[in-house]
Amino acid sequence: MRAWRAHSYGSYKDVLQLDDLPALTAPAGGAVVKVEAAALNFPDLLSIAGQYQVKAPLPFTPGIEAAGTVVRTGAGSTFSVGDQVIVSAPWGAFAEETAAADRQLLRWPTGLSAAEAASFVVTYHTGYLALAHRAALRAGETLLVHGGAGGVGIAAIQLGKALGATVIATAGADDKLEICRAAGADHVINYRSGDWVAAVKQLTGGKGADVIYDPVGGDVFDQSLKCIAWEGRILVIGFASGKIPELKLNRVLLKNISVVGLFWGAYQMHDPAKVVACHDALCALVAAGKIRPVIWKELPLAELPTALAALESRQSHGKIAIIP
Ligand SMILES: NC(=O)c1ccc[n+]([C@@H]2O[C@H](COP(=O)([O-])OP(=O)(O)OC[C@H]3O[C@@H](n4cnc5c(N)ncnc54)[C@H](OP(=O)(O)O)[C@@H]3O)[C@@H](O)[C@H]2O)c1
Repeated sequence: MRAWRAHSYGSYKDVLQLDDLPALTAPAGGAVVKVEAAALNFPDLLSIAGQYQVKAPLPFTPGIEAAGTVVRTGAGSTFSVGDQVIVSAPWGAFAEETAAADRQLLRWPTGLSAAEAASFVVTYHTGYLALAHRAALRAGETLLVHGGAGGVGIAAIQLGKALGATVIATAGADDKLEICRAAGADHVINYRSGDWVAAVKQLTGGKGADVIYDPVGGDVFDQSLKCIAWEGRILVIGFASGKIPELKLNRVLLKNISVVGLFWGAYQMHDPAKVVACHDALCALVAAGKIRPVIWKELPLAELPTALAALESRQSHGKIAIIP
């Protein structure tokens, strides 16, 4: 079977190789899945560079999510050959086959294509646990989503609407603002031109946003503290800008705000039951037509480097799927 592997840490342009490997053996308490689609995430760039929270042992196959069919099971697995599943694991997705433990497999939401199912877990689970669980977003509140046309951004816009919020989305280009609108945003703002902080204040009658969803970090995080409402919650989702912000705590105190972190991967380890409950709630939202992944492009396995380049250069929107 063919699999992309990083043989050292570095830029994907230098270290990735498409290798021919023997068929995988199913681990005890797990299964081998024939990959029908895998999806890219910003953390793929970081893990190939050896800069992600979880460092994969070399050589490794990058890719943290896929959808496919179980083809072999290990002793004690609760899955059966033929089951259609979503895989979510720290690495292994950009290949024709991937092996995973049972706790890394979830049911394929009815009605989603392979590319959509592969693009589902990371972005929607992150959004749901952040908005519904960690920030307790309430109907009628205002949600500000940064990087709204990105993978996690589009999911957060759709989920904000499904939870009854008024959604303001930011993005860095006019065509991306249209993507945010199509995902359901009530208001859109270009945060690379003009005074977006003033625009948020104006849209909220001077009050600011109740919940801010920030996958960008850097200056965007710093500026967000100027347009957050009293008792607002700012969700620390990621640092796509490349800059991890620092915070003077007097600002937290003075505005009565909460800075709330969310690392989805940790829920698989610390609270797998919550992951399953979250997945069930999200599958119900898919069935109700309230959420659906937006796929920018589907590309063949051999074109993974092209796909990573599109993600890195901010050309893409929504999700990029790889079809082996
Ligand atoms: N906490 C978690 O559990 C979790 C889970 C998944 C992802 N994340 C994090 O969330 C962030 C977004 O991930 P994603 O997969 O949604 O990525 P993505 O699809 O590439 O979206 C990232 C967005 O960030 C914006 N951006 C701003 N500055 C950027 C820069 N210098 N380079 C690239 N993009 C920039 C881009 O929008 P504009 O061009 O419109 O500015 C882009 O649409 C990443 O930091 C990732 O590590 C966290």
